[in-house]
Amino acid sequence: MCANDNVQFRVNPNLDRLQSYPFQRLRTLLDGAVCRAGLAPIALYIGEPKHPTPDFIKRVLVEHLDGFANYPLTLGTEALRIAIAEWLERRYALGPVDPQNEVIPVNGSREALFAFAQAVIDPTRPDPVVVSPNPFYQIYEGAALLAQSTPQFLNSVPSGYAFYFGELTAATWQRTQLVYVCSPGNPTGHVMSLAEWQELFALSDRYGFIIAADECYSEIYFDETHPSLGALEAARHFGRTGFPNLVVFSSLSKRSNVPGMRSGFVAGDAKILKKFLLYRTYHGCAMSLPIQAASVAAWKDESHVAENRRLYREKFEAALALLKPSVDVEMPAAGFYLWLPTPMSDTEFTRRLYQEQAVSVLPGSYLAREAHGINPGRDRVRIALVASTEECAEAARRIRDFLSDL
Ligand SMILES: Cc1ncc(COP(=O)(O)O)c(C=O)c1O
Repeated sequence: MCANDNVQFRVNPNLDRLQSYPFQRLRTLLDGAVCRAGLAPIALYIGEPKHPTPDFIKRVLVEHLDGFANYPLTLGTEALRIAIAEWLERRYALGPVDPQNEVIPVNGSREALFAFAQAVIDPTRPDPVVVSPNPFYQIYEGAALLAQSTPQFLNSVPSGYAFYFGELTAATWQRTQLVYVCSPGNPTGHVMSLAEWQELFALSDRYGFIIAADECYSEIYFDETHPSLGALEAARHFGRTGFPNLVVFSSLSKRSNVPGMRSGFVAGDAKILKKFLLYRTYHGCAMSLPIQAASVAAWKDESHVAENRRLYREKFEAALALLKPSVDVEMPAAGFYLWLPTPMSDTEFTRRLYQEQAVSVLPGSYLAREAHGINPGRDRVRIALVASTEECAEAARRIRDFLSDL
């Protein structure tokens, strides 16, 4: 017997409310499954960009390595905040964005999406609710649970994927303190329309909740003449000066193929950002100076982003040409996921596809929760078109063969 067996072990009980992460559940699902011999495995289950990081970003990073000798400020350098503010102004035709008060650099959108709920939820108000899309990026739910609130879901279903805000009752909206939205959506690729934004802004005005708009896929769209609509752009369109109760989360990870660099930003309502900055000062998540310098260079360049989009377009065209005759799958509005309907349960499809064709995808039901009588991810799989065009086409060919052999 160990000496401290009788010592009580107590930690935050909300940690036990966290669900296992979809990739963990996938590992369990595929445990013991053996791929057919002779096929090289193709992994399309994770949304990790695979295009090379542009050389100029690496060069600037290396040129600034001396910056590791200094503690960085949580607010970031003025150069980075200006580069981000100017990018926002250019990208969304916003007019002036204040780099001092309306922008904070973050270490990728994930940590900021999580930390944000901890900073803004008031657990002393009765029964706080955090609203999340469904299916959704799992951080929203974990952030809500650790901020002592109850997640509630708005389903995003194939008839256009737009939210039906009436799914939640007035009593739920009254308790709602924070709403996460993801546009372009992971996994649906849905881009919220001005009409959806108008409804959401009206609800926010009525019930006083904050909107956290996750836009980490904003630069992966397919029509160069129609960039995806942004939340700040929608706010400006409706004359919402100062972006009241709105904060967007953006990232270089997918835009510039630097998921490991951990660089993004939040922008929006200055009053909320001031509180978030205070939180972050204690949380201790300032971005290192070399990463800030490389980020400035990345935000200032668009040619590598256009090339990135060209590659994704090429992959979608190759994959859809192979899949479309046999399966009802659409080109998404944006993002790099195919959200494929399955002719059997999504988990059985995933396991059999792996065994018979050595392609790994993610069951849609792992990305969603049962809400309003359905799990909107059920009988769908998420396929991340992140591998090379050749590999994506080969995967699509194998999925087609798998379907036609059923
Ligand atoms: C919807 C969504 N939001 C946020 C992130 C986090 O991205 P990062 O932290 O690299 O900015 C991801 C990553 O896959 C994502 O899919």
